[in-house]
Amino acid sequence: MRKFCPECSQAFSPADSGVKTVVFKVGLLGLGTVGTGTAEILLNPAGRHPLLQEIKIHRVGLRQLDKPRQIQLPADLLTTDLEAIVTDPEVDIVVEVMGGLEPARSLMLQAIAQGKHVVTANKAAIARYGDEIFTAANAAGVYVLLEAAVAGGIPVIEPLKQSLCANRIQAITGIINGTTNYILSRMQAEGSDFEQVLADAQALGYAEADPTADVDGLDAADKIAILASLAFGGRIKLPEVYCEGIGKISAADIAYAERLGFVIKLLATARRAAIDAPADAPLQVRVHPTLLPKTHPLASVNGVYNAILIEGDPIGEVMFFGPGAGAGPTASAVVADILNVAAILKVGRAAGSTAALPDGTPLLDPLLACSHQSYCEIAPIEALVTRFYVRFLVKDSPGVIGKLGSCFGEHQVSLESVVQIGRRDQMAEIVVITHDVREANFRQALAAIEQFDLLRQISSVLRVL
Ligand code: HSE
Repeated sequence: MRKFCPECSQAFSPADSGVKTVVFKVGLLGLGTVGTGTAEILLNPAGRHPLLQEIKIHRVGLRQLDKPRQIQLPADLLTTDLEAIVTDPEVDIVVEVMGGLEPARSLMLQAIAQGKHVVTANKAAIARYGDEIFTAANAAGVYVLLEAAVAGGIPVIEPLKQSLCANRIQAITGIINGTTNYILSRMQAEGSDFEQVLADAQALGYAEADPTADVDGLDAADKIAILASLAFGGRIKLPEVYCEGIGKISAADIAYAERLGFVIKLLATARRAAIDAPADAPLQVRVHPTLLPKTHPLASVNGVYNAILIEGDPIGEVMFFGPGAGAGPTASAVVADILNVAAILKVGRAAGSTAALPDGTPLLDPLLACSHQSYCEIAPIEALVTRFYVRFLVKDSPGVIGKLGSCFGEHQVSLESVVQIGRRDQMAEIVVITHDVREANFRQALAAIEQFDLLRQISSVLRVL
């Protein structure tokens, strides 16, 4: 069969290449959206990288055999015995696309113990059990690759591991949850409230029936924990990642933000406390809705799209943009990882030997394997220095703005702007934007303001980039 060189588009036959064709066998765990997309690529390699022709689906593990499916596979490939796949001596690469914590975690660990390489899209399992999984993988001399776990089809894991590895990473700022970006984009475009757009997003399939993981920011927290770990060279304890969702964002906040020159986005951020901070200084790793200047590169990322802005020294800023979910995009990342493993195996097999440590553990490519030995220190959210947006409803009385200003001042909170934008329920609505302040000071000022007799309510508090 004629093949085409992906670099130069010249036709060649396998015999010309001088490299023996080998077959790598994949055990696929899960045939949902991502599993189906992955199988479709593996079964249709024409026009893609020639190495794909050497990858075969050996077994497919399902929870139920009789469910209607979008893809027809030979019945003898299918099984509900998932353990039989991860222990099958013929399987080279286990592809875990079933999601959830268990049995995904146990199956990955079993596969690793059997000396199999693992490709996974499971951000929740990696963010919680990465330590256990990568320690086991390193001991077994196998790879665990997870490009699909963060931002679907956008290549960001491999760039962090390889293409950007000469850089000192200073910050990662991302829109890494498509559901919340879709909801916020529609609220912005239509002036609608959160609950209304969420219900519509659920009806259209853009939000899950139980939207908690997305709207509460938990999905983005898993993903930024993984990115922070790669960028800053240490493991991240997920419970230390500050996480706030979009459930309290109102149409009023979006409208006021717009008038002030901002859009509201759910941002996931990982950065050192200061640009010139020492390499072991604590990290900020956090997810929360943020007012973003309309001129910021992430401000125009709308709908279900994801984007990740990485700042590094010496590269400066580099931004990755694309589809963060969906069968095709996520499968594109899964199959790229399968190809990465197959390429390494192919070179090792062609060389006839595998480099190993004195105890026999095979050596792993240090740019692809996890080399983290310790946990990064994460700064508490109270230590964050940022700007804030606050919306107050107060009695429209002489001196009320002065009293608010004095109270902020007493707590070292300097104000950038104070605007009485309108009236609501016979009350004055006042929006304050602070200068950069320490979160702990800002919270103390708000606690004091809550005692004001002129205050009806603090309607919302958001951070400003
Ligand atoms: N629920 C996720 C999102 C899907 O909305 O981005 C991909 O992880």
